[in-house]
Amino acid sequence: MSDAAASDIVELVKIKPSAVLCLASGDTPRLTCQMFVQKVKNEKLDISQLTFIGLDEWVNIPPGNEGSCHYFFRNELINPLSIPEKQIHLFDAMSDKLQDECRKMDAVILEKGGIDLMIVGIGMNGHIGFNEPGVSFDNYSHVIDLDETTLSVGQKYFKSKVSLQKGITLGLKHLQESKKVLLLANGKKKAEVIKKTVEENLTHSFPASIMQKHTHGIVMIDEEAASLLTQNK
Ligand code: GLP
Repeated sequence: MSDAAASDIVELVKIKPSAVLCLASGDTPRLTCQMFVQKVKNEKLDISQLTFIGLDEWVNIPPGNEGSCHYFFRNELINPLSIPEKQIHLFDAMSDKLQDECRKMDAVILEKGGIDLMIVGIGMNGHIGFNEPGVSFDNYSHVIDLDETTLSVGQKYFKSKVSLQKGITLGLKHLQESKKVLLLANGKKKAEVIKKTVEENLTHSFPASIMQKHTHGIVMIDEEAASLLTQNK
């Protein structure tokens, strides 16, 4: 799964060197990032025109905190590939003007001609980025109160307990407008949410179900995450 996703990024860069790539952080895309880094190095791929957008961030968590999305992107992608700052767009979740951060991100995406490839994970409550259950499908970037599940599951990224409350995230309108979306999920624990994503109703209360509407939306999963799908039986 990770290799296929990393290959998709490589293919995109080959076809469109000035592509706009949006990536989630979290456990799921870690190996994809590592494999992408390896492929770029092996194939001496030119990524100097690529624009990189970070999907989301925990509000009030500093970029140096190992649980922040910033930290993930720096560690897994930006530093290993020495990507210059001008190619990187991450939310500054420490800003006291979060609305400005949202509008800035929306403007960058618009100015660059939209997102070519979005690679997202899925939360245990069906969230994508921090598009929590009940969120509108028509939002661009926004700040949101985090759902109970996100608050408790989210602690796994932090060495010591942190106070999480809000997230800043691209919206599901961005996802719908992206030229291609890959939703990645692996492991038994994601089987239930994958079933809901692809086989149950399209509903605001389960944001990942929006994938059903995307004309170029691909759910890329391993066998364990696919284990509850009826077509799998
Ligand atoms: C996190 C992030 C998402 C991520 C999801 C799944 O809270 N906000 O962007 O995709 O939850 O994370 P993981 O891949 O660690 O299961």
